[in-house]
Amino acid sequence: MVALSEHPEQKQRLLDDPSLINTAVEEILRWATPVMHFRRQAPRRPRSATRRSAKTRRSSSWHISANRDETGFDDPYTFDVGRSPNEHVAFGAAAPTSAWAPTWPAWR
Ligand code: HEM
Repeated sequence: MVALSEHPEQKQRLLDDPSLINTAVEEILRWATPVMHFRRQAPRRPRSATRRSAKTRRSSSWHISANRDETGFDDPYTFDVGRSPNEHVAFGAAAPTSAWAPTWPAWR
């Protein structure tokens, strides 16, 4: 509601074309990213730990940052109720996201 209120032209676009509801919902999730970040702690030290990374088993995943990533979204700071594709990570990700990719396989 806040996103639509702050972008009256996008609100009007949605009112004029209700078939945009699905992309609008996804865009609102990307734009708001209610769960901004998540921290994970590995059950044990990664096998591939280097001397430097061995000091920690913890890692943070910043969904709010990923959802504004210009390599993943065209014009990420534009609220667009028709955005497609929209591979946002507002719900996290079942597969490792780019932020996790370097260390995740070593934790399995
Ligand atoms: C806009 C709405 C919501 C957002 C953005 C959201 C976001 C998230 C995120 C980012 C995670 C972490 C996923 C991960 O482990 O990487 C999560 C986990 C979870 N969410 Fe939500 N969530 C939403 C709504 C809900 C609702 C309505 C419920 C329950 C009625 C719910 C139940 C859960 C549960 C049980 C988990 C833990 C799953 C697990 O660790 O196996 N979520 N959610």
